Amino acid sequence: MSNLSQKTFCLYTYGCQMNEHDSERIAGMLESHGAVQVDSVEDAEIAVFVTCCIREAADVRLMGQVASIKNIPLPEGSALAKRMVCIGGCIGQRDGDELPAKLPHVDVVFGTQNIEKLPFLLEAAMSQGGHHVEILEKSDTFSTDLPSKREHPWSAWLPITVGCNNFCTYCIVPYVRGRERSRAIEDIAAEAAGLVADGVKEITLLGQNVNSYGRDLYGEPRFADVLRAVSQTGVERLRFATSHPKDLTDEVIGLYAELDNLMPSLHLPVQSGSDRILKAMNRRYTAAHYLDLIDAVRKANPDVALSTDIIVGFPGETEEDFQATYDLVKRVGYSQVFTFIYSPREGTPAASMVDDTPRDVIQRRFDSLVDLVQENAYAHNQRFVGRTLPVLVEGSSKRDERVLVGHSPHNVTVHAPIPDGMDAASLAGTTVAVKIDTAKAWYLSGAMVRD
Ligand code: 5AD
Ligand code: SF4
Repeated sequence: MSNLSQKTFCLYTYGCQMNEHDSERIAGMLESHGAVQVDSVEDAEIAVFVTCCIREAADVRLMGQVASIKNIPLPEGSALAKRMVCIGGCIGQRDGDELPAKLPHVDVVFGTQNIEKLPFLLEAAMSQGGHHVEILEKSDTFSTDLPSKREHPWSAWLPITVGCNNFCTYCIVPYVRGRERSRAIEDIAAEAAGLVADGVKEITLLGQNVNSYGRDLYGEPRFADVLRAVSQTGVERLRFATSHPKDLTDEVIGLYAELDNLMPSLHLPVQSGSDRILKAMNRRYTAAHYLDLIDAVRKANPDVALSTDIIVGFPGETEEDFQATYDLVKRVGYSQVFTFIYSPREGTPAASMVDDTPRDVIQRRFDSLVDLVQENAYAHNQRFVGRTLPVLVEGSSKRDERVLVGHSPHNVTVHAPIPDGMDAASLAGTTVAVKIDTAKAWYLSGAMVRD
């Protein structure tokens, strides 16, 4: 019997969807060894942190969280001498042996390339004590080959590539996730078919840059072929994240008009609207090219909701550069924008660029962009008022258990009162029709239409 049998564990997940996916694999794997997932650290004999280092705030938060669980007693009746503390993900990959040196109560460190090793490292730490650190530079396995415990049984992440070859000058991801590798299209299609057979309604294809899928493989399969293959499984909702504008092809854009189950939403990070800054970021497209892509997407399907990522305060950003970003955001009219203040990451080229814009100037730019984003989102959502939308229900609202929460095909959150005689638990995972009567910046609300 495994040492992990009946041991309780809790998971802390930070960062991107790739990390959320890795956490689902970690939970599935630990449970296949007999361990039991719990929600709070007080009940957990094992705490696993799946970490992110994309911005400094993520680092600081992790160190604080890990330090703060040190004095929480083990759950009553535990046979362990101490709580096992495990750090994986991007900070694990980056810092390796340095972590137990900084945080001596850390028992296990693993990286982004070897999550399958966690149970073995944990068993070694439990039986022998001491620190167990293993980081691999590169691996040929995909975490998708491991068992998974999905957060929602009806929705699944499906990695099609891992790693990144782009080296945007601000970004640490290529250093902690390694070079880009694509999974064989047959494996992706087979997994997608298995998920659909398992009752999954929504599949999100994942990769740091899904658009460059297949460049490392022999033969022809490209991202458009992956979309077609997964669409053919008949999955109700197909999504993907994240796209790089320089690699988004006309063929993929055309699929928004062709595939009924490809959802009308596209996350296309622009980062900046200034060509000078885009060049310094090594993004390899211009604002004009980006806007052409947006026009092409809207031509293929005018209903597509667009979202993006923007960095404010990249080294050397002038007022004029920022204005170009502001104008681009205004022109596109995004449904959602993730705005970030530039955070220097050691080892990246941008970290050694002259960065002398005063903090208050950057904050003012950031705040004005956030206001614009809110106005755009509000305006964007008005177009749904009066429409009846299919909503994939996730459960009930945290504030009111008689209100259901789900997402529209455009990935906008929708709220609606649950009709008498129905409950959130039985509606979860089903698609219901909601007639929208109110649109706010961050959600829509309406009434369920029953047939
Ligand atoms: N500072 C601020 N934001 C960053 N991002 C990536 N690296 C940094 C950084 N060093 C943002 C980009 C990316 C998103 C996931 O995080 O906008 O698209
Ligand atoms: Fe980072 Fe650029 Fe790769 Fe995205 S494409 S993960 S921003 S290096």
